[in-house]
Amino acid sequence: MSKVTLKNVVKQYDSFVAVREMSLDISNGEFLALLGPSGCGKTTTLRMIAGFVEASAGRIFFGDQDVTDLPPNKRNTGMVFQGFALFPHMNVHQNIAYGLEMRRVSKDEIRGRVAKVLDLVQLDRFAERMPRQLSGGQQQRVALARALVINPHVLLLDEPLSALDAKLRHDVRLQIRQLQQSLGLTTVFVTHDQEEALSLADRLVVMNGGAVEQIGSPADLYERPATPFVADFIGKTNFFKGTLEGDRFTTDAGTSFKVAAKVARATLLGVRPEKIKIAVSQPSAATVHSDANEIEGVVELVSYLGPFTEYQVKVSGEQRLLVQQANRDVLEAMHPGQAVRLTIPPEWCFLFNADPGMESDLMGEA
Ligand SMILES: Nc1ncnc2c1ncn2[C@@H]1O[C@H](COP(=O)(O)OP(=O)(O)OP(=O)(O)O)[C@@H](O)[C@H]1O
Ligand SMILES: [Mg+2]
Repeated sequence: MSKVTLKNVVKQYDSFVAVREMSLDISNGEFLALLGPSGCGKTTTLRMIAGFVEASAGRIFFGDQDVTDLPPNKRNTGMVFQGFALFPHMNVHQNIAYGLEMRRVSKDEIRGRVAKVLDLVQLDRFAERMPRQLSGGQQQRVALARALVINPHVLLLDEPLSALDAKLRHDVRLQIRQLQQSLGLTTVFVTHDQEEALSLADRLVVMNGGAVEQIGSPADLYERPATPFVADFIGKTNFFKGTLEGDRFTTDAGTSFKVAAKVARATLLGVRPEKIKIAVSQPSAATVHSDANEIEGVVELVSYLGPFTEYQVKVSGEQRLLVQQANRDVLEAMHPGQAVRLTIPPEWCFLFNADPGMESDLMGEA
């Protein structure tokens, strides 16, 4: 078990920078998730921690020990690789024992330790099976047992659940979390599944183009995204371009919203779909109360999603908003073509300064 520190770690392939100036403090026993789009540098970061990829610059520490120049077998990390593979010609016991044999652990001790981890991942009856005789989830748990058996200082998991169906994913994910907590293992977990990251991790690191965008607890990132990228990547966010004056944000289409947040020269307003209130528009109350942050629209699409219904609503300026309404108290869903009034609570508006290129990406413009 150990604390892991990255100091200005860089990975460069020729002129391409895969990871730029990454600094991280991972506490002892912490479960940290690395999250970000494909190619953002998650696997590269994990492999630098394990020692399979050499850092181009910067230092990596386990506790107080500088491990930057140590080979992988001297770092004592347990790793489950992306698209992992068990040795197909070895049974479950042999697959798990392999790492201990490499470390010249005695036969008796190997037997005891393999039995113990098999028990941990609840596969004690499967020791003699060959990998092809196991389900995907069982194979995944063998891979996990193989990483755990060496009593690693740090557990590194690279999308270990990606091959599993939704139900199994959920089960194995809970098992990993329980194991990690009961063993107090410092764990770095790579995923591009945000729900997985939110539900498992103590803290999340959102990466974008090789750099850290934001580090924080799941609630930090969801409720207080630091950048439009994070607001867009974690959960869904509706964006409006415009300008801020005092406590009013005026969109490019001319709608004015009162906002609570204070961000100097903000040019982008964001609001989560579930924070927007939706109601049938009342013709008698034709005037929209701009002080109440109301905006008129027409429902275009309705998706019933069980606990909530998601609406795509067209508002002024040809813009489309995503709105989610919990189905707890709703008797009848709204239908396409229906005129609706949306209310955008000032306290739930995010404000950002974004560069124009980023804004266009978020607004779905070419
Ligand atoms: N050996 C290599 N030589 C050159 N470029 C590489 C090499 N390995 C990785 N890269 C590049 O570095 C970037 C980061 O790769 P990495 O595997 O870390 O991404 P990732 O975040 O794990 O993505 P994914 O979610 O698809 O697994 C990618 O653009 C990749 O093409
Ligand atoms: Mg990867």
